[in-house]
Amino acid sequence: MRCLVEGEGPPVLLVHGFPMGHAMWRAQIASLSGVRIIAPDLRGFGGSELGVIHEGQGVSMERYADDLAALLDALGVDEPVVYCGFSMGGYVGWQFLKRHRERVRALVVCDSRPEADDEDGRANRLKMAEKVGEWGSAMLAEAMTPKLFAAETLENDPKLVAWMADMMGSNSPQAIAAALLGMAARPDVTGDLADFDLPTLAICGDQDALTPPDVMRGMAEAMPKAEFVLVEGAGHMAPAEKPVEVNSAIEKFLESLPPIG
Ligand code: MLT
Repeated sequence: MRCLVEGEGPPVLLVHGFPMGHAMWRAQIASLSGVRIIAPDLRGFGGSELGVIHEGQGVSMERYADDLAALLDALGVDEPVVYCGFSMGGYVGWQFLKRHRERVRALVVCDSRPEADDEDGRANRLKMAEKVGEWGSAMLAEAMTPKLFAAETLENDPKLVAWMADMMGSNSPQAIAAALLGMAARPDVTGDLADFDLPTLAICGDQDALTPPDVMRGMAEAMPKAEFVLVEGAGHMAPAEKPVEVNSAIEKFLESLPPIG
């Protein structure tokens, strides 16, 4: 598994979205200080190998979560991490919490949701998983990109939009299909939110069309220790579109945490 490790201090695990890689966090990696950043590429994405996948089964959120626990073991990270997940990285985060609760000190959920897919959403993912080999990753990335950003980002920051499309399009159709199948099969964790009683920061772009503010606000309200931050002028890709605002919210949150131990 390919992973960027940088800095000294309490560990912060940055888990990317679909179909991206750790580089989506470049603005956070460049700016967060006083912490040890651990930013992996999930199985099949960026520089990480997909490994063995059983035909038609994909990679479950649970498997990505177990990969992360194995990564922390391999890095010798014993102390609990601040788990920071973006979108699919958030779906993986729920499973990481359920399976490796003792390894999590606090949670940052960016532009994600607790619910499973509805029937249409699931059918759409299964169709994409079937077709991505034929279409190619670049075509899928181009079709997805406009939905990821706020209108003003699309208009004013074509370089960011093109960079994201390139990152997404550079992943293999096999890795993309595997993640689509995994997301389609992911469990609903709405009923678990009340038990996720660790300090939590929920961040959402005010124009996020994929995981909208109302969904994230409701999620935060259902969690005992969650704070909700709305980022103005951002879409789904809030950490990349509005890094100053997102970094400042994360820094404030990190400062507010009780010390480890
Ligand atoms: C992501 O950004 O990870 C995806 O939008 C998640 C999803 O497709 O549900």
